[in-house]
Amino acid sequence: MEISGLLRAYIQSVQLAPTADNSQPICYTVNNREHSILSGFDRDRCAGFFLGSDSHAYQISLGANLENGLRFCHHHNLANRYEVYDKDINNLSYKITFNNDTEAENDIPTEILGRHTNRWPYKLDAISEELLTVCSSFAEGDVSITILTQPDDRKQLAALIGLASEMRFQTPEIHNWLYETLRMTPTEVAGNDGLDIKTIALPPGGKLLLSFIKDWKRMSFLNHYFGMYKMMAKIEAQAILAAPAIAIVHGGHYRRDAFDGGRVMERLWLHANSNGLAVHPYYVLTDQLVRMSEQTLMEKLKPYESKLNQGIQKILDSDRFPHMVLRVGYPKREVIKSKRLSMDLVVKSA
Ligand SMILES: Cc1cc2nc3c(=O)[nH]c(=O)nc-3n(C[C@H](O)[C@H](O)[C@H](O)COP(=O)(O)O)c2cc1C
Repeated sequence: MEISGLLRAYIQSVQLAPTADNSQPICYTVNNREHSILSGFDRDRCAGFFLGSDSHAYQISLGANLENGLRFCHHHNLANRYEVYDKDINNLSYKITFNNDTEAENDIPTEILGRHTNRWPYKLDAISEELLTVCSSFAEGDVSITILTQPDDRKQLAALIGLASEMRFQTPEIHNWLYETLRMTPTEVAGNDGLDIKTIALPPGGKLLLSFIKDWKRMSFLNHYFGMYKMMAKIEAQAILAAPAIAIVHGGHYRRDAFDGGRVMERLWLHANSNGLAVHPYYVLTDQLVRMSEQTLMEKLKPYESKLNQGIQKILDSDRFPHMVLRVGYPKREVIKSKRLSMDLVVKSA
């Protein structure tokens, strides 16, 4: 379809926002007559996704998507209005309408181009107070940020992440989703979605281990006889302990809070990356708390419930919900950036 340079650049900018496991579940319905774009869950391409249109992960991703879009408009001084459709759980979307479509410039802001996930270890250097103050000031609706820098606080959170990871590594559908999104070979990576294995910080032999435990029956055997889930969880929690700062994006329990959580997360992420900080999200705690509230936990994981609930209440000193946990610090190395689907796969005509 015909699409102006400006709308094309807008879509490229919002496509660069993060999505869970780079699953990119969002599509863009362009209305040239109205100069508008409707961003929502792609029911055709992503039908049957484990993290579907009603998932918290999608809601967060859509919020981050709008945040990039508004950055793009701000960068180009582009008058716009947007409306979020959040009444129907299966149809969270937003429509942005531009007052004109005649801008000569349509570059993508550098902060959007520069944002990325860095899963490697970070330097131990403390982050400047000034930067932390700005990062913790971001808020939207009822969503705000708490940043933990003290060793005792990070220890408490690491213990919680460890517990949530133990739960995750014992849950077959989460295991299978990981392998659905993992891209191990150059041909798979060329598909431009999912998690390129090169973006994951694996120890020597890690790739082999990941291939070995792909079969859930094998993982389940190792869990049962060797406590494999405990070992994997310990590795996950270790990086939290060692990080100079952990940001928790938290708010109410509503769907709109998840969406606003995505906006706040992205604001923090863009600011952190453009000021030389690396960022690594840890969704595992939120994911398990969501599963608990939706009552989709396996029976054997129920004993974890009260520990997780009490633990997060203690850390946040309230019953607020953690929409995302992010490890933040100065990077030790540059990392490969993940790819995005070509535009013809994600754009539709109204
Ligand atoms: C809802 C959500 C959950 C995520 N959870 C994790 C996570 O638990 N661990 C992780 O390493 N990255 C996580 N990510 C980061 C994505 O994997 C990452 O954004 C995506 O692969 C695209 O890469 P990029 O951020 O470098 O553009 C999450 C992102 C979102 C939006």
